[in-house]
Amino acid sequence: MENNLPKHIGLIMDGNGRWAKKRGLPRKAGHTVGAQTFRKIVRACNKKGIGYLTVYAFSTENWKRPQEEIDAIIKLLRDYLKEAHKYLKENIRTRFIGDLSVFDQEIRDLIVEAEEASKDMTGLNLNIAINYGGRNEITHAVKTIVEQVQQGTLRADEIGEQIVADHLYTAGMPEVDLIIRPSGEYRLSNFLIWQSAYAEYIFMDDILWPDFSEKHLNAALEEFARRNRRFGGI
Ligand code: IPE
Ligand code: IPE
Ligand code: MG
Repeated sequence: MENNLPKHIGLIMDGNGRWAKKRGLPRKAGHTVGAQTFRKIVRACNKKGIGYLTVYAFSTENWKRPQEEIDAIIKLLRDYLKEAHKYLKENIRTRFIGDLSVFDQEIRDLIVEAEEASKDMTGLNLNIAINYGGRNEITHAVKTIVEQVQQGTLRADEIGEQIVADHLYTAGMPEVDLIIRPSGEYRLSNFLIWQSAYAEYIFMDDILWPDFSEKHLNAALEEFARRNRRFGGI
């Protein structure tokens, strides 16, 4: 199985709200436990030697939620950023992807700090997607490419798939080859729509994110190793 490890996992951390509801707790309690699960699974991926892990933490659509819930999620983000230095000893390189311009100055500064502090780490490459949407990302890439054409630094006839990929938040990273989503929803919800064009999808319907464990990760990796990837060939 070792040889058949995915190079880049996309993880949709879904089901926090339902997990809390089942226990008669407020939704934010699910996010709090989910944030702990996130820390555990990141560590597990690092130990296994996974190269890249992109986690979906907050989507461009999640602003539709009640303000109280949004505030609770942003608070968890802030808490995580404040302790990010603790993760340096684990050799994890952390990056944040998404339209970060909407976050306040404190969060943006903490993000720069966390990215800067971990930039020479050689273990897992962790991307945390916040205010991330695949359509938003592609639109942003298109705008940048058009600007370059207008400025004369890029010719229109040079634009190909590689140029588009080079302008996504994941520029230079391996293509996503495995998407994992717990909670029984069988959709991407605007996550990595370009990058996972040829990914394997593993949807798990017997588990909500807060209860997701290394056991579930292992099951997904085993299933991935069994899949026959043809990429249009035979
Ligand atoms: C995922 O859990 C976390 C975020 C979207 C921030 P949900 O909050 O979507 O949980 P469910 O899907 O409502 O159970
Ligand atoms: C996707 O989950 C976003 C994150 C996990 C951060 P959602 O719960 O927002 O997705 P939908 O609404 O079920 O599609
Ligand atoms: Mg959900």
